[in-house]
Amino acid sequence: MIRRITVRACGLVFLLTAIGVVFSGWTPLPSTGTDSGHEPGDRVESTGPAPTPEYAENGMVVSAKRRASEAGVEMLRKGGNAVDAAVATGFALAVVHPWAGNIGGGGFMVIRMPAGSVTTIDHREEAPSGATQDVYLDDEGNAVRERSRRGYLASGVPGTVAGLLKALDEHGTLDRETVMAPAIRLAREGFPLPHSLAEDLNDAYEDFAAFPPSKKYFTKGDSTKTYRVGEMFVQKDLAQTLIRIRNQGKDGFYEGRTAELLAEQFQENGGLIDEQDLAEYEAVERDPVSTTYRGYEVHSMGPPSSGGVAIAQLLNAAERKPIEKMGFNSSSTVHYLGETMRRVYADRAKWLGDPDHVEVPTEGLIQKDYMRDRMASFNSDRITPSDSVKAGQPMLASESMETSHYSVADSSGMAVSVTTTLNSGYGSKVVIDGGGFFMNNEMNDFVLKPGVPNLYGLSGTKRNLVAPGRRMVSSMSPTIVEDPQGQLFMVIGAPGGSTIITTTFQVIMNVIDHGMDIERAISAGRIHHQWKPRILSYEKNTLPQDVTWNLRARGWPVEMGVFGGIPRWGRAQGLRIKHPADPQGPSVTFHGSSDPRGTGAAVGL
Ligand code: DON
Repeated sequence: MIRRITVRACGLVFLLTAIGVVFSGWTPLPSTGTDSGHEPGDRVESTGPAPTPEYAENGMVVSAKRRASEAGVEMLRKGGNAVDAAVATGFALAVVHPWAGNIGGGGFMVIRMPAGSVTTIDHREEAPSGATQDVYLDDEGNAVRERSRRGYLASGVPGTVAGLLKALDEHGTLDRETVMAPAIRLAREGFPLPHSLAEDLNDAYEDFAAFPPSKKYFTKGDSTKTYRVGEMFVQKDLAQTLIRIRNQGKDGFYEGRTAELLAEQFQENGGLIDEQDLAEYEAVERDPVSTTYRGYEVHSMGPPSSGGVAIAQLLNAAERKPIEKMGFNSSSTVHYLGETMRRVYADRAKWLGDPDHVEVPTEGLIQKDYMRDRMASFNSDRITPSDSVKAGQPMLASESMETSHYSVADSSGMAVSVTTTLNSGYGSKVVIDGGGFFMNNEMNDFVLKPGVPNLYGLSGTKRNLVAPGRRMVSSMSPTIVEDPQGQLFMVIGAPGGSTIITTTFQVIMNVIDHGMDIERAISAGRIHHQWKPRILSYEKNTLPQDVTWNLRARGWPVEMGVFGGIPRWGRAQGLRIKHPADPQGPSVTFHGSSDPRGTGAAVGL
């Protein structure tokens, strides 16, 4: 049974290593943890074994849609590497997953080379040159949130095409024609609408009807005519857009017909993006943010994403406690993790910004001692009063610091971890007429006004104000983990707005500390705290009643499900690599899982 949840995450993640097909339905996984300390209470037993992960011996692709995973595996079968497969998956998602897959959005990619070096490609959207803070304020200086959420003003200059092609040019082995073939085929010939997409499109009718091109491409013209499961969904203009990219590379999107259509429609409808903004857009290669966790090396995305820094901080704090012994989701574990999350998200709000425009103290924030100091006020019996949980003062970077963490041991496995998004579902809801693709509403990830939170309840400071050419702070956290021997161990990431960070962090802990397989680690119930609002949230079937009692006794405002009105639980897509103990024995094996909260698939070869 595939369980569909009505609150859907909109960013998406796809993950690859160099190559099985199984999607297992989701049975909610109750906590197997209970409370060892404090009062005895109810214990909720697991209702049964979790499904097993997808298994393969030659590589694997895990993404939010099966057809996109298959597009990637097609590349592996042709002899391509993980980057070829990632790029094919990315373009295919832009066709089969218009909710979040995109060419009108942006994202981040972490790549691990076969020899073990790790790099990242920042292809985050950028504020157009005409963007100023005033654009999102009314005459009285109040933030007008809607302008950054919907319509032409909401979009930043898209980065996806530049990012995918940069990765392909620099690290791929197949040509554009080959890697884009599945996406073009899916757009031109169409694909049978799965239930989830047919229903999504029908539900979004009113949103699309507000913009004639969106109505033209993604509705049947009036609200009484609905999409049916299984009918072929053909996107001819999108196919032509993809063909221009295939034929001309980056220029096929950022210059020429697509750029003209995009700029013209933005200028006509009060948007900011012009042809020069498009022509000047570049994806940027950056060093990863790396840390160690109990001997494992964790590499993730640095600023302008907050993901890598926040995950490093969370892991640095978790490493200070015997999490395994404290128990999976016991009250003492949740209490400690909740306190950690509060502090880390307070830092995120204060310190994160685009490193090309503002100084971000990345190295100071990810030092091990920094989190030691940040956790000094932790009290195992009581929550730290909210008034005293504020951003910390990161130490100055020392030369030797994290540089060492960027060098990794030899391994034969190449891996790619990508998170891409339009921000909210279908982004700004605007489709480019003649182009057939949705544009992002990523401008909402800027601070519209200090104190005004974004869609995910996240706030920030002047470091993340709107400015021309600036990239907005993100939570996207594509991550690659290596084992203590320096071998590729895990590829992981998630969509889910502000819960991306805590999702990725908990899945890593579930595998390393609690010894879960990747399927269980991903499906296990989660907790989340993001400093503001003050609530400690937990997913349904996650915390036994004695744990919530004991958390309340410590002073936590605890809430199940939706936190503070912000409905997002990350949907992780991950895989784990197992290396044989006997080097002469069988080769490495790939174990993958697509989060059962969504409708994706792990496909192996
Ligand atoms: O960059 C970010 O952090 C957000 N724009 C991600 C949005 C997201 O994950 C949407 N899914 N719920």
